[in-house]
Amino acid sequence: METEERKRLAGIEACKWVRDGMSLGLGTGSTVSHTVVEIGRMISEGSISVVGVPTSLATRELAMSVGIPLVTLSEVGVLDLVIDGTDEFDPGFSLIKGGGGALTREKMIAQSSNAMIVVADDRKRVDVLGKFHLPVEVLQFEWEATRGLLSALCPGTVSIRGGERPFLTDNGGYILDCNFGESITDPKSLESEILSIAGVVEVGLFCDMCDVVILAGEGGVESIIKEGGRLG
Ligand code: A5P
Repeated sequence: METEERKRLAGIEACKWVRDGMSLGLGTGSTVSHTVVEIGRMISEGSISVVGVPTSLATRELAMSVGIPLVTLSEVGVLDLVIDGTDEFDPGFSLIKGGGGALTREKMIAQSSNAMIVVADDRKRVDVLGKFHLPVEVLQFEWEATRGLLSALCPGTVSIRGGERPFLTDNGGYILDCNFGESITDPKSLESEILSIAGVVEVGLFCDMCDVVILAGEGGVESIIKEGGRLG
């Protein structure tokens, strides 16, 4: 099975958790975009009525194009469920996110959700986080100084995404990609350390947020449910 087909299967499988009347966080990326399109299809055939909060401008556009009514976090307060993609997940359900640069909005929406489902293909499953560069959103202001402070924590390179023409997030920030290698055994403390640096807007470590990973691999799709999680 091709990677694209795996993404599609995982993305669509997540819709089995969607119930009529839910408020949903709509994640960003090529896998969860299949979920967003499927939710739009379910709305158009009349099987559900839901509202969504998008985690990026790109998802906002996609959701609008498939007819998902959008609201803001301040209008709904707490969301029933967020469905999002990931760049890596470890056995403790900690995640690295932000490959698409949307980590700050994704985390804001995840922290305001009663549960989180992640959709992924099996390349994203790791024993220890960090092979995928850890994205950190920073302010443009004096970003090189912020990079210096991040470099003191990171054993590998810390590079600005986009190089000489930096990638701009939806919030007008820059992304610094930190190459930790497969060394992030305590994602929670690393998250706190990075967040203590002024100039850092958000870091793409998501700990204690994900309840279910829907994983598509060679043998089909499996749902890995976190023991003691909110959907267990
Ligand atoms: C967006 O910023 C990311 O967190 C994505 O959710 C993540 O990169 C997964 O994207 P894909 O599904 O495209 O791999």
